[in-house]
Amino acid sequence: MSTVSKIACDVKDMALADTGKLRIEWADQFMPTLAQIRKEFAKTQPLQGIRISACLHVTTETANLMITLRDGGAQIALCASNPLSTQDDVAASLVRDFGIPVFAIKGEDHDTYYSHLEAALQHRPHFTMDDGADLVTLAHTQRADLANEIIGGTEETTTGVIRLRSMARQGVLQYPIVAVNDADTKHLFDNRYGTGQSTIDGILRATNVLIAGLTVVVAGYGWCGRGIAMRAHGLGGQVIVTEINPTRALEAVMDGYRVMTMAEAASVGNLFITATGNKNVISREHLERMKDGALVANSGHFNVEIDIPSLEKMAKNRRMIREFVEEFRLPDGRRIYLLGEGRLVNLACAEGHPAMVMDMSFANQALCAEYLAKNSSRLEKKVYPVPQEIDQAIARIKLDSMGVHVDQLTAEQEKYLASWSEGT
Ligand SMILES: NC(=O)c1ccc[n+]([C@@H]2O[C@H](COP(=O)([O-])OP(=O)(O)OC[C@H]3O[C@@H](n4cnc5c(N)ncnc54)[C@H](O)[C@@H]3O)[C@@H](O)[C@H]2O)c1
Repeated sequence: MSTVSKIACDVKDMALADTGKLRIEWADQFMPTLAQIRKEFAKTQPLQGIRISACLHVTTETANLMITLRDGGAQIALCASNPLSTQDDVAASLVRDFGIPVFAIKGEDHDTYYSHLEAALQHRPHFTMDDGADLVTLAHTQRADLANEIIGGTEETTTGVIRLRSMARQGVLQYPIVAVNDADTKHLFDNRYGTGQSTIDGILRATNVLIAGLTVVVAGYGWCGRGIAMRAHGLGGQVIVTEINPTRALEAVMDGYRVMTMAEAASVGNLFITATGNKNVISREHLERMKDGALVANSGHFNVEIDIPSLEKMAKNRRMIREFVEEFRLPDGRRIYLLGEGRLVNLACAEGHPAMVMDMSFANQALCAEYLAKNSSRLEKKVYPVPQEIDQAIARIKLDSMGVHVDQLTAEQEKYLASWSEGT
């Protein structure tokens, strides 16, 4: 008898599970850190009896994290952290082959998205595992009845950490959260190399343009923006950076990019990519200045970085010209192309970050869940950093898996570094 029918879920099509299973297996081979943790979890069962509601992009890498948590003893329910990021075949396989309840369908509308978050919360979690803090927000508003039972959570991305810190500052956060995003082994690699490569990947899959020779405007020179600028430059793009932070703008100048305001860049760019975590970074004023054929994409967490409502109002007509590419024709004949509905372009138009980098991000998630299981009772209702021991352990396992060795401090060096008197 099939056990699938007993598992609560809402996925697109169970017939996609075979493809999903193979793709999950493919990702697994590039996630040696997580695999090592999974082996250990299977023995030690650190999450025995713990219910986790996870709101993450439903990708092959997330599937491997879910399997790791399950093998560590947790009971999980998974929903998507973005309406366009779900890989339907992965969702089907997680239910059919791994017995994990999933509520996620690529392209789901706003109401379905929130009904899926609600379904994940019906699981009455002890922990939330969030990417962008939508699940935590729901658990603090519409489902505040649940917040008493939740004893801890983790947060995957910059925007989520910003929202949660704001909740903690205002004294409304009901349980401790570990900011996975802020671990060195997360944002230095995932946000920079992961977003850098996969953003370009999403743009190429959606448009098939040649980056060489294009003027590429990158809004935001944070961890994601640095990665995107680096990769666009590597492909021959002429990169312009826009920033609001003078130090980061200076860094972009010294890294060899042109820096200017978006108002200046708007009329010279061919391809615009936002990665700021802010809203209306590309506003109506900027859209009005763009050249015919300008491509506009976002890689920040929410679809508010580009003023899409204004673009809709400005357009005389609009049509889908390719999958994930919408053409907006302005009254004077100019065309502006919006990619992936202005949602995370790497997940909407491609597969998100490569498994090799999610290996470290999700190793952090798994070890932080174990950390919460051991320590949540002594933590306050605050946002906590990932403990340094976890961060360093992950870097070591990753290096080992790559066959890279590093030197050890000698006793003499340790003494030298600890002393203030050994100047000469
Ligand atoms: N696409 C993905 O898969 C992915 C991965 C990781 C993070 N993210 C998201 O990407 C966004 C950026 O993350 P990050 O880690 O780079 O953050 P960050 O804080 O390191 O960088 C954001 C940068 O944007 C700048 N900025 C803010 N408002 C601006 C404006 N109006 N114009 C120009 N620059 C502006 C800030 O000064 C800052 O330097 C967040 O929303 C994050 O959640 C997406």
